Amino acid sequence: MANLGFTPTQLSARAAYLLRGNDLGTMTSAAPKLYPHMWSWDAAFVSVGLAPLSVERAVIEMDTLLSAQWTNGMIPHIVFANGRDGYFPGPARWECAKLAAHAPTTADTSGITQPPVHAIAVQRILDQSRRRGRTTRAVANEFLDRRWGDLVRWHRWLADARDPGGRGRITLFHGWESGMDNSPRWDAAYENVVPGADLPPYTRADLTHVADLTMRPTDLEYDRYLWLVEQMKRVNYDDALLPDVMSFAVEDVFVSAIFAVACDVLATIGEDYSKPRADVRDLRAWADRFRAGVVSATNERNGIARDFDLRAGRWINTETIAAFAPLLCGGLPRDRERTLLRIFEGPRFCGHPDLRYAVPPSNSPIAANFKPREYWRGPVWPVITWLFSWAFARRGWPERSARLREEGLRQAQDGAFAEYYEPFTGEPLGSMQQSWTAAAVLDWLD
Ligand code: GLC
Repeated sequence: MANLGFTPTQLSARAAYLLRGNDLGTMTSAAPKLYPHMWSWDAAFVSVGLAPLSVERAVIEMDTLLSAQWTNGMIPHIVFANGRDGYFPGPARWECAKLAAHAPTTADTSGITQPPVHAIAVQRILDQSRRRGRTTRAVANEFLDRRWGDLVRWHRWLADARDPGGRGRITLFHGWESGMDNSPRWDAAYENVVPGADLPPYTRADLTHVADLTMRPTDLEYDRYLWLVEQMKRVNYDDALLPDVMSFAVEDVFVSAIFAVACDVLATIGEDYSKPRADVRDLRAWADRFRAGVVSATNERNGIARDFDLRAGRWINTETIAAFAPLLCGGLPRDRERTLLRIFEGPRFCGHPDLRYAVPPSNSPIAANFKPREYWRGPVWPVITWLFSWAFARRGWPERSARLREEGLRQAQDGAFAEYYEPFTGEPLGSMQQSWTAAAVLDWLD
């Protein structure tokens, strides 16, 4: 790594210091101001970053999240920190404790879910613990024993409640469930969401924390987000009724790929730690089903993956990072995979000649709807770079993985640990001090 402002030791010390600063005790806020609570997939990535610092603290993070799991198995997308305000929609808007039969009574949560990356965190916790002494190993093993059932229930809920037809793809009823809130992937599906005149009034909190409002979703987008929450509330967040009442329903190919690989990761853990054979068998079966679901959502020529809009009954053709879902979970025929890798590394994505760093932008710089500063419509998200570098290492592509890591670390040299970055200039955008960005750096430097 040439040209560095920080040594690796300095950079990882800064990242560790950031996580310490965002630590609320038993949860790490996703970011200090904009996201003062625990987000589900953030918490998993944060645990990946915490594990090399303290396996014990990483376990606490996952325990906090899993303690807020719904009794139907869903891990909610937000666990609200006690007594913390400053985020909308908060518990008073979601009203889960009052309406949802499955919501926990001990924690306030949102009523939707987020991508299932948690098995990756569990794997990292166990791997790190094996590099430590006996006491730490015991903490990790005890954590796995205590939470194994919860983790399997989480995966079972996704496979059952979110893929009732067994198509091998996870259905989302809110764009936020994708973790890529305002991605162009969802634009067409959101057009079908028409906020009623009875949408209760609200004040956005996000706009007070970001200086440049054009980096955030618009007010109309926000009305739609909240209208979907109203639709869920009207059926008391009942899994069985959501497919009938929600005006937004999409099969997310990226979440499905994450789920496939997460099922494999969990199954391997189950084998290594002698968990019930029936669980391992289910996990492998879901991995196969969802891998096949992802592959069947790809373009036959180039392997590009597409989401499916269930309301419109059609494939969604956009040029976002989700196109590369099959690279995460595998399953494509060789030649198609090679073509897809070439697109990933070529001028439509990481190899675009004007990119500051060779990392994948959230939307292709040559797409008509590319917006270099706007949230999931173009910027580079370091956590996504990390996810691909992790997956590529797992797929047996160490050079590709190392390249993403190197470029990701070059980008992190600004020390801002930003939520996302302008792809051409490298300007840090959105929230600074974002926990999962620090976590990615910690894992890369471990
Ligand atoms: C934004 C992102 C989402 C993330 C959350 C907290 O809503 O779109 O993926 O989990 O912020 O960081």
